[in-house]
Amino acid sequence: MPQPRKIIIDTDPGQDDAVAILLALGSAELDIVGISVVAGNVPLKLTEKNARKICELAGRPDIDVYAGAIRPLIRELVTAEEVHGKTGLNGPQLPEPTMKLQEQYAVDFIVETLMKEESGTITLCALGPLTNVALAMIREPRIASRIKEIVLMGGGFFEGGNVTPAAEFNIYVDPHAADIVLKSGVPIVMMPLDVTHKALTTAKRTQAFRALGTKVGLATADMLEFFERFDEEKYGTDGGPLHDPCVIAYLLKPDLFKGRSCNVSVETASELTMGMTVIDWWGVTKRPKNAMVMRDIDHDGFFALLVERLGRL
Ligand code: RIB
Ligand code: CA
Repeated sequence: MPQPRKIIIDTDPGQDDAVAILLALGSAELDIVGISVVAGNVPLKLTEKNARKICELAGRPDIDVYAGAIRPLIRELVTAEEVHGKTGLNGPQLPEPTMKLQEQYAVDFIVETLMKEESGTITLCALGPLTNVALAMIREPRIASRIKEIVLMGGGFFEGGNVTPAAEFNIYVDPHAADIVLKSGVPIVMMPLDVTHKALTTAKRTQAFRALGTKVGLATADMLEFFERFDEEKYGTDGGPLHDPCVIAYLLKPDLFKGRSCNVSVETASELTMGMTVIDWWGVTKRPKNAMVMRDIDHDGFFALLVERLGRL
């Protein structure tokens, strides 16, 4: 087997973040160098605790978890307890974590790792607002040329937004950070709502996790049953979109996804469309193609991968 791919997961757990982290932990193709946590779905003191809870759920207290930005670069923090619950990880009853949080500030961890590791060997998997990633790029501009790839969940275009009619949550929370990352020149793969809304946690799929009968399987089913209710009601669908695991699944099985290279620009001025990702899907501008934007997914293959890998934990 080739050398495992070194990744940093930047995240704001959140049930869908949690499933993405579990997918990575269940996959020997990936080497999680560390988990950097950001404020997003819930405040930082909860997202960092949730990240540690998930590592312990997977029996991996050895994973280094670092706390990062407590708020966006410029705007006030907007959270999403209405979706994820007060703890950010409502659903299963998970014990308080005993593994320690790393002392080092997550942004320093990201910079230090990228400057220390061989250039082009670290992939950033961004599952939340991009504040930590942008701060790292500001703190040490040289990291941009050393990052192998950024695979991020965020944005939307044909699908519109989920937190405003125009904007998806991760980008909306910190549009200025997203602007910095999108203009960084780093190779980017983007998983917008246009693709994640095709990955629905139907009752049958959630049952497949429960049928694993393991601690991880049961906790995952409980997380999904809580997490999906908000979107089921909003969209009238059987199940809700499972956003963040698309990022990790892409690293494991890129052929599950289809998309095209486009320019993606983000609104940072108008309050009406703040955080909107303007995706030049039809190539009508001369703007540089700065992201591979995914729009289609083999959702049966995606969930089969998820159940199989979580079944290994
Ligand atoms: O809009 C969906 C994104 O916002 C996901 O990453 C979810 O975890 C929330 O952070
Ligand atoms: Ca997230």
